[in-house]
Amino acid sequence: MVKTLNLNAENNLTEKSFPVKDGARGFESQPNEYSYWIDEIEGVIPRNLQGTLFRNGAGLFEVNGQKIGHPFDGDGMVCAITFNQGRAHFRNRYVRTEGYVREQEAGKILYRGFGTQKPGGWIANLFDTNFKNTANTNVIYWGGKLWAMWEGGQPYQLIPGTLETIGQDDLDGLLKSNHPFSAHPRIKDNTFINFGVQGGVTSQTLTIFELDARGNKLKEHSHPLTGFAFLHDMLVTDNYCIFIQPPFQANGLPLLLGFKTIEQCFDFDSQQPTKIIVISRHRNYDMEILETESFFGFHHGNAWEKEGKIYLESICSHSFPKKSQAELDCTQAYFDDLCQGRLWEFELNLAEKTVTRQKILARGCEFPSVHPGWTGKEHRYLYMMVFNSSIKRGPLPAVMKLDKQSGETQRWSAAPTGFPGEPIFVPRPHSDEEDDGWIISMVYDAALHKSYLIILDAKDITKEIAKLYLKHHLPYGLHGNWTAKVFI
Ligand code: CO
Repeated sequence: MVKTLNLNAENNLTEKSFPVKDGARGFESQPNEYSYWIDEIEGVIPRNLQGTLFRNGAGLFEVNGQKIGHPFDGDGMVCAITFNQGRAHFRNRYVRTEGYVREQEAGKILYRGFGTQKPGGWIANLFDTNFKNTANTNVIYWGGKLWAMWEGGQPYQLIPGTLETIGQDDLDGLLKSNHPFSAHPRIKDNTFINFGVQGGVTSQTLTIFELDARGNKLKEHSHPLTGFAFLHDMLVTDNYCIFIQPPFQANGLPLLLGFKTIEQCFDFDSQQPTKIIVISRHRNYDMEILETESFFGFHHGNAWEKEGKIYLESICSHSFPKKSQAELDCTQAYFDDLCQGRLWEFELNLAEKTVTRQKILARGCEFPSVHPGWTGKEHRYLYMMVFNSSIKRGPLPAVMKLDKQSGETQRWSAAPTGFPGEPIFVPRPHSDEEDDGWIISMVYDAALHKSYLIILDAKDITKEIAKLYLKHHLPYGLHGNWTAKVFI
């Protein structure tokens, strides 16, 4: 059975929230590119925090004044914060994707996106399925390459020290015919595991890739999917890759005819079950599909195997957070529904084809993360962004550490005017304790209209180790990764 945590105190949410409008300017574009040593620091940067934090996210929400229709369509802006001997250097640079370069030259929107149409009505969008690869979702250093990733296309390769764009990378021919390479890889036992979904509205193919430490292919296998599969994240264990496919009804015709965006062409179907796709990493790569109650989720925590069963965590919400079709300002619409997710733990019994699930945190949360060394094995600690109150509007203002063994929680809040991003776990060198290290997060501070990087003690996240103030703001980001290499 899934373990019940004693979280009554934690789940008694009585604190006041704060005005949603405070966070709105975190969606303002940052068109500038910077490179400087950070000199405004509270606290002390640990000397043994040596390496580079790469972070990606949409940086531009318009092209020459023409607003894009959805934050997911913003051009990818990669940041590198390099830690070296107690100092920190900041650099940000736009990924020179084909779309970014062409639109900046033209001074207008030239591409459709997830929620963006080209100006000029349906006729300007008719039969145009060349969606912009924004390279805005994740950035990771692997096998000597730095990749800016987007789930609908190939990654863009960057130079780690300068963030200059080399170009699209087909991984030495592995990604044939522009095959997608998702933005949510998992790294387990020094193996890089990723996937891509290719195909139309009613049938798609899921391909899984495993790469060794040098980026060479270890495994590649493909599986047919039925229905409209929106797979954003994945999970791995010793023996399985796991995907969660929420139920959608989709109609691609209005998209093809130029009348609607991708976002407007699919609807969450709460009457249908959510599928849990379990694919063996060995031999015949067998696929099993289990069903559970309907839910949607972007992000999963961790997965592990124990006593013949598979366990996993996912941030589940009752529906897909869709922007109202009449809403034009993407930044306002984004606030209403984005983060209604709750943390659930699932137990999968493959022999009996059963799924048991239990909510383990009542607090709204997103962007779960664990110590990278615990990916795919039973872990004790989970870090995530959370709401401070039961009011679930606006960006999330706090970071939480959940001790799954004791049920205890710790919380660091940037409220009332600060909004952290994904908490990234950086292990302390030469330590093998699960919570020995630092939690690093980029915080947008609405009072200053600037961003700062917070470094917290992963053992006690109420302890601020250092705050590193940038000279400007950064829009809310998506995902990033740490590497122990110093690129400077
Ligand atoms: Co994501």
